[in-house]
Amino acid sequence: MLNLIFLGPPGAGKGTQSQRLAQRFAIPQLSTGDILRRAVAEGSPLGKQAKALMDAGKLVPDEVVNAIVEEALARPEARRGFLLDGYPRTVAQATALDEMLARRGRKLDYVVSLDVPVEVLVDRLSGRLTCPKDGSTYHARTNPPKRPGLCDSDSTPLVQRPDDQPGAVRRRLAEYQNKTALLTDYYKPRGVLRTIEGVGTPEDVEGRIVSALRDNLTAGPANP
Ligand code: AP5
Ligand code: MG
Repeated sequence: MLNLIFLGPPGAGKGTQSQRLAQRFAIPQLSTGDILRRAVAEGSPLGKQAKALMDAGKLVPDEVVNAIVEEALARPEARRGFLLDGYPRTVAQATALDEMLARRGRKLDYVVSLDVPVEVLVDRLSGRLTCPKDGSTYHARTNPPKRPGLCDSDSTPLVQRPDDQPGAVRRRLAEYQNKTALLTDYYKPRGVLRTIEGVGTPEDVEGRIVSALRDNLTAGPANP
């Protein structure tokens, strides 16, 4: 059982790395951003509520995302562990997650915080291509798909996310600084926080994460 959170600003590589680790550890990646984008694409009531906020780069209300995560954690596949990508993003979400986990008798093992300078974030987001079907991400220059413009796993044509336009990127970076960055202080005293240098190839970053988790397992698991 591995219960893991990915923290980090927009473009830090949360999605890229959580997909890799979800495969490696055979646990589900729970991305609130992906779930919300699917709801927008389907035009569901949730999607209609979230679309304008997301396109503008603003956070969706806490109670909306808390309900999404509550439901995702109740699914059978999350029994073996989970990897939360993009949640929590506010202190209110972090305390709601603590309550959800306590109700299930579960604890967080690690909070992986990806550290990437702002100029690299902006470059990554401006070149990002996303699969609207499975949420996988590519980058035109640094992480291209095998066939130009097509998703590697299902050949769906890749698109640019509406919130990767420059104005929305600025707003997302500001939301992160104002509401999410302080979550490292929330988790630090618990001994679960692992800050990882997020610059380098996706393989390099994955290697750093895995060895940070291993170091801790050698020293004694955070959640025995
Ligand atoms: P969300 O989908 O979570 O977006 P985000 O946090 O802004 O982060 P991104 O998905 O943009 O970046 P990422 O860190 O996943 O980077 P990626 O791996 O793609 O949220 C979107 C919106 O939904 C929010 O603005 C909000 O409205 C709403 N929302 C979601 N969760 C919410 C919550 N909990 N509360 C309230 N609202 C919520 O990588 C980026 C690019 O870089 C890609 O092109 C990738 O290929 C490339 N790349 C990755 N790693 C590397 C590397 N090592 N080297 C070179 N390129 C790399
Ligand atoms: Mg993402």
